[in-house]
Amino acid sequence: METRKWLVLVVVGLMLLAVWPVLAASPAPSGKLEIFSWWAGDEGPALQALIERYGKLYPDVKVVNATVTGGSGVNAKAVLKTRMLGGDPPGTFQVHAGQELIGTWVVSKRMEDLTSLYNQEGWKKAFPTGLLKLLSTQQGIWSVPVNIHRSNVMWYVPENLQKWGVKPPATWDEFLAVAPALEAKGVVPLALGENWTVTHLWESVALSRLGPDKWQKLWEGKLAWTSPEVVDAWKLFGKVLAYTNKDHSSLSWQQATDMVVKGQAAFNIMGDWAAGYMATTLKLQPGKGFGWAPSPGTGGAFMMLSDSFGLPVKSPNREATLAWLRMLGSREAQDIFNPLKGSISPRVDSDLSRYNAYLQSAAKDWRSNAIVGSLAHGVVANERFMNDFATVMEIFLSGHNAEATANAAQALAIQAGIAH
Ligand code: GAL
Repeated sequence: METRKWLVLVVVGLMLLAVWPVLAASPAPSGKLEIFSWWAGDEGPALQALIERYGKLYPDVKVVNATVTGGSGVNAKAVLKTRMLGGDPPGTFQVHAGQELIGTWVVSKRMEDLTSLYNQEGWKKAFPTGLLKLLSTQQGIWSVPVNIHRSNVMWYVPENLQKWGVKPPATWDEFLAVAPALEAKGVVPLALGENWTVTHLWESVALSRLGPDKWQKLWEGKLAWTSPEVVDAWKLFGKVLAYTNKDHSSLSWQQATDMVVKGQAAFNIMGDWAAGYMATTLKLQPGKGFGWAPSPGTGGAFMMLSDSFGLPVKSPNREATLAWLRMLGSREAQDIFNPLKGSISPRVDSDLSRYNAYLQSAAKDWRSNAIVGSLAHGVVANERFMNDFATVMEIFLSGHNAEATANAAQALAIQAGIAH
């Protein structure tokens, strides 16, 4: 009996010794953690689920869910910029993988390197190499991805299409062929929303004309913006725009989606957060309540973007932020967040049985398609380029002059160091 007691004591002592350094090194985080994003209102449920999970794991941290409304971060990014430059960073913030992260915040030395977190968590194997590249420089890995969204998706309501006697067009020529008949029925062929959604539509149209290789070359400075195929993409874009709703600039992306859902419009091109909105908020069943196809002419190509979070330099609560990031990259958190968000997990071990029919098909395409990066959502160009691209878009919209627009875009690409 005595010996057993001793044995137990020794074993418990050894166990304590083993965990002690861990406990000592990472006291449970506490205090306030501000999570900054544009996932407000309809866009909120997936983030909310993550915050609840975090609250269970770290009950001593008070999370402040700081959101600034506006699709694709149109308003949030401006607020973030002011705060970052003013030395008042949030604990962590939403930022797109790729140039929005690297070409905006990493080059200006505003982020902390997360390589040791990646090593501790085994994330270099858990995330695909292509994505890791978008998050890294020679000097480090700069944020933790929470999802993969697809930009080039066309949405519709199967029952309505049947009623109107049209099929989802596989090419823009097919779309242009059926659009007049839809209009004659009083149906808007293509629902469109506020300014940024115009750029969103443009990237799908451009991808259809250029194909994945040339799209990539455009961003590597190996294809001029003034080359015939790019000029041609602007011309096609003009033709497509003719079949969109005239009041588009006053509509949010959700309102443009609503036009399709309500049968006022036949199609909408939007990222698959629209699937999240339709399935999670509107409770529509994928395949029945809404259907999808690659945006015309882009079958076999997956235009991706990824939302991520990082650790800003001078983050007010480093420990709580690191705990957030550690959770964010885990399989469990990703499979809580993504089914609600309308995105898939970039983790190679994601549990696909938890995802709906749309997301399972997206996951399949993600694994088999040619992958390219989105412009509208920060992958291929930094914030400065994006802001100036809005001016290029205005030039096009004011006169539909494809050549003049191409020249302006080329000048911008040179100024941004993309083209020479
Ligand atoms: C994207 C973002 C998505 C979604 C969308 C609409 O830029 O990556 O997660 O929020 O904007 O706001």
